[in-house]
Amino acid sequence: MLTETDARPRTLADLPEVQSDSLLQLIALCNADPRPEKIDVGVGVFRDGEGRTPILKVTKEAEQRLLDTQETKAYLGGRGDKRFAELIGPVLLGEHASRPGVDGVQTPGGCGALRLGFQLLAQINPDARVLLGTPTWPNHAPIIDGVGLEVEEYPYYERGQAVIRFDAMMDAIRGARPGDVVLLHGCCHNPTGADLDFDQWRDVTRAVNERGLIPFVDIAYQGLGLGLEEDAAGLRHLFAECEEVIVAQSCDKNFSCYRDRVGSLWIKSGSKETTARAMVHTLQNAREMWSMPPDHGAATVRIILDDAELRARWLVELAAIRERINSVRDHIAGADPRLTYIGRQFGMFSMLPLSKPQVVALRDEHSIYMADSGRFNVVGMADRDLDRFTTAVIEAMDG
Ligand SMILES: Cc1ncc(COP(=O)(O)O)c(C=O)c1O
Repeated sequence: MLTETDARPRTLADLPEVQSDSLLQLIALCNADPRPEKIDVGVGVFRDGEGRTPILKVTKEAEQRLLDTQETKAYLGGRGDKRFAELIGPVLLGEHASRPGVDGVQTPGGCGALRLGFQLLAQINPDARVLLGTPTWPNHAPIIDGVGLEVEEYPYYERGQAVIRFDAMMDAIRGARPGDVVLLHGCCHNPTGADLDFDQWRDVTRAVNERGLIPFVDIAYQGLGLGLEEDAAGLRHLFAECEEVIVAQSCDKNFSCYRDRVGSLWIKSGSKETTARAMVHTLQNAREMWSMPPDHGAATVRIILDDAELRARWLVELAAIRERINSVRDHIAGADPRLTYIGRQFGMFSMLPLSKPQVVALRDEHSIYMADSGRFNVVGMADRDLDRFTTAVIEAMDG
């Protein structure tokens, strides 16, 4: 017999409370701060010297061409823009993009690619664990959790000395079960800025193969570190050496088209047939979630990459983004000996040697917003705010 409680139908009101992503909470806090001098180094978008996140000139032009020439918005199909994938593949993987057993599909940003990739891995082996170096981007664990795979954390970064804990990483890989997955940041590690060097990529590749693991590379910042080719060198080595690899790629930062949601998922297996079957599963999974990826951003990127002149101009604009990141890094690194490591790190993020109370004090007293972990967006502020920022950070470190 049903009790009174059992008989009551469940409603939306029965949903438990849930904490929203910490970075989303930070954005809300910053938006609510009325002080005009506030500095937002929490959110992960590039800002130029004026503090703006401009649309690239080349993107504006490609969008205009799209507007002028597009004759229909009829459905494109689950793969989205096939020419986009054909063009972004070599940017990401170089010559490996066209090898047999390699295929890529357009996704809604890097997030969409991560979700699709992990869902495929969960279908292959629901018992696989995913090795996740910490700290990492806060959305990794929820995405992995969301497909039912188990996360196995290992320490990736030593904050005190600002170095990668490479021994701990290798121990974790050597101790994993065959068939487990290892998630690697392709470049510009978020949140630490601490990237594997090429020798370390080689060691990781060897250990992954010896242990029979599946590597999954997340690369959301190609071209924002050392250069487009340099930032992909480790990934390409691993891609060439391992039989099965998954890669989630994003164009949202290197084409500055964040809200347009442009990315792709790449699958490599030992044969064309296996990859084709994996792709059928992937497209079915995508069909259940978003059916087809949004077109506008990928079509814009396709127009840029398909035109020699626009492509060359994109490379120049991307280089300017990279140069600004690296010059701000040098500036901050030169401000205090305790910050010199920031000049040796890559991409938009690094972590400051600050405790949570110090981070909160920066927020309350100086309206400087960064993640509680001390992670900050190196190019989150305008040039005019840079010295005020470093002075406040140094004060907080001293206090
Ligand atoms: C490490 C990492 N992976 C993936 C993504 C997802 O990028 P997208 O905005 O294209 O979904 C991000 C975005 O912040 C990221 O930092």
